[in-house]
Amino acid sequence: MTAKTLTDTAAALLAADKGLLAMDESNATCNKRFAALGIPQTEAARRDWRELIVTAPGLSDSIGGAILFDETLRQTTHAGVPFAQALAAAGIVPGIKVDTGAKPLAGHPGETVTEGLDGLRERLAEYAGLGARFAKWRGVIAIGAGLPSRACIRVNAHALARYAALCQEAGLVPIVEPEVLMDGDHSLARCAEVTEEVLHRTFAELRAQGVLLEGMLLKPNMVLPAQNAAVQDDVAAVADATVHCLLRSVPAAVPGVAFLSGGQSAQLASARLNAMNARFGAGLPWALSFSFSRAVQQPALELWKGDPARVSEAQKALVFRARCNRAARRGTYDARNDAPL
Ligand code: 13P
Repeated sequence: MTAKTLTDTAAALLAADKGLLAMDESNATCNKRFAALGIPQTEAARRDWRELIVTAPGLSDSIGGAILFDETLRQTTHAGVPFAQALAAAGIVPGIKVDTGAKPLAGHPGETVTEGLDGLRERLAEYAGLGARFAKWRGVIAIGAGLPSRACIRVNAHALARYAALCQEAGLVPIVEPEVLMDGDHSLARCAEVTEEVLHRTFAELRAQGVLLEGMLLKPNMVLPAQNAAVQDDVAAVADATVHCLLRSVPAAVPGVAFLSGGQSAQLASARLNAMNARFGAGLPWALSFSFSRAVQQPALELWKGDPARVSEAQKALVFRARCNRAARRGTYDARNDAPL
């Protein structure tokens, strides 16, 4: 596999100010979101929801790549077209989540290590055959009393680099996702400190394992105060802290950074990404984009609720959020034209 294939795919994913759509929820996570809205937790309902997304008119105006779950990559539209093919035909690059989930880390209560390396080379070859051109792996870091441990940061960084090297060997662009969670009551400063440490360790491992930085994308958390923090910093403070943290830890060779939303409201995620690009965009070495799941899907899911009569309305809401985030990439998102923050 040539380096050019990887750099071309990485560039295509974020070209024309587009972002990525994460629609790779595991069955358990997808079912949890469905249950909260009274949607049946069945394979058929998951397929219907994914078809609504993949066939949304105009989605490819703002979305350059979509990350699928294993089940979805093997499913088809009602017309019998595999989802990966339907996405590619719409001009959206299909990708696949390849980790098998965050599992308890031995000897470290409250912490996890993400699994899925055994047999990954063979799975990547199969996924490439099914049309995937990029992949995703999420490591999870919790902040709490005495957390994160050095061990948790190290094992997750090591696994992310092993995954990334295997992806590049298979010709797939790795999306490297070390997520520092926003659960808890820690401050923005604490999130900045932990995120910087996690990114440093992750890039040290990527370098040690020979990963081509030009042929990967980083999917980090924004630097935020925790959900229950006493002080909720404003949009500008979050934008400044996030960009400052990335400048200190992400090599300029990486072509793009595509944030996860992590439980922020859809509007706040757009406003914060917009502020980063408006305040710093042109001076940054990498594109600052999005790879949101909840912050793009949730408003549409709440409209759909499993009702076939609401497909078109939900598709419009989905495409609207994707467009808001494309505008945020350009620094032209205007929160006054959006629902309240
Ligand atoms: P959220 O944007 O909902 O955090 O999901 C992104 C993602 O892909 C998590 O792995």
